[in-house]
Amino acid sequence: MHIAARTSHLKESVIREMTRVALGCGAINLSQGFPDYDPPAEVMEAAAAAIRDGLNQYSMSWGLPLLRERLAERYTAMLGRDIDPDRHVVVTCGVTEAIACAFFAILDPGDEVIVLEPAHETYGPAAAMVGASIVPVVLEAPAFRVDGAALEAAVTPRTRAILVNTPHNPTGRVFDAEELDALTELAVRHDLVVVTDEIYDEILYDGRLHRAPGAVEALRERTITIGGLGKTFAMTGWRLGYAISPDALAIPVRSAHDFLTICAPTPLQAAGAAALALPPAYFEQMRAEYHERRALFCTALDDIGMANQWPEGAYYVMADYRAIRDDLDDLAFARWLTTEVGVACVPGRVFYTDGLRGANLVRFAYAKKPQTLLDAAARLRSALERA
Ligand SMILES: Cc1ncc(COP(=O)(O)O)c(C=O)c1O
Repeated sequence: MHIAARTSHLKESVIREMTRVALGCGAINLSQGFPDYDPPAEVMEAAAAAIRDGLNQYSMSWGLPLLRERLAERYTAMLGRDIDPDRHVVVTCGVTEAIACAFFAILDPGDEVIVLEPAHETYGPAAAMVGASIVPVVLEAPAFRVDGAALEAAVTPRTRAILVNTPHNPTGRVFDAEELDALTELAVRHDLVVVTDEIYDEILYDGRLHRAPGAVEALRERTITIGGLGKTFAMTGWRLGYAISPDALAIPVRSAHDFLTICAPTPLQAAGAAALALPPAYFEQMRAEYHERRALFCTALDDIGMANQWPEGAYYVMADYRAIRDDLDDLAFARWLTTEVGVACVPGRVFYTDGLRGANLVRFAYAKKPQTLLDAAARLRSALERA
């Protein structure tokens, strides 16, 4: 039987594979980015109530009106332009689907999209599934800063878009005004669409501010702003994301969503609207808890001698594992740490197109209860003694 080229080269997501390995051997799972605690109780109750109250059929394709209204309100403030819930907003099954919809809307076979690497592993396959490809531009360690010249060098006649993920997974960078200027200049000069992935926009440290590329005047009409509820409200399994598009792109993005999934789960959309209405205290508390988790886990890595940059946003840290073992490559180390030490992590190369990059690095996700992180740190210390 014929297998289409667009999927035949895809392998299982290594991140999700590490979760499977972790489940199989009972390791503490710091590989895939999801919390080991629940969404706020009132939001879970809103989901249960929505099911009991009969919100069990398809919603309008582009999303339940109340959720779109709340998103429109939030993004009118964030982007500094009027976001119309009926025109600009589409609710998707996670950020993953929103990115796929954006790519379906703007990329033809043979087209290219620039991606800053290291990068979340979903972008390449999403491009491949529409017959397009990503062109990586590497953020060089240890600063992981955007370099305008490197961006410029990546542009070809087939470049249609640039994908910007801030706060950034896996480096924890929050791109600053100067870096956004470089991205803006490039997009304007080459008439590119900017597709964003702002799934961590509420998870920021040390008083940093999130800068949405779509709020930059010159990018307003060329940016598809993508975000999600999974990380902010500890509900990654609810699969709620969205895209906010300018007029020229809104209908194609919405059409892609309409024919890919019809709609996101209706009762969970209702509960998502309740989540967005939580008071500021929820967000402040969440950020305070992430500061605690970051301090707890990154201090443990520092003490062990695993060099790492404390993240500016999101909930991942890339660490040099050679303090524990320097005789294994990143794939072998991640597997050994998971099966023999009982702490699952992600090998660094997963985040790069060039498999030689990311050597000596692994990524940990620390969206976990303090006790889980203390247990993981104790296991890492024991690995140090053992090695
Ligand atoms: C940067 C980034 N984008 C997208 C996703 C996936 O988002 P969703 O679960 O909403 O599809 C993740 C999940 O870890 C992520 O880190």
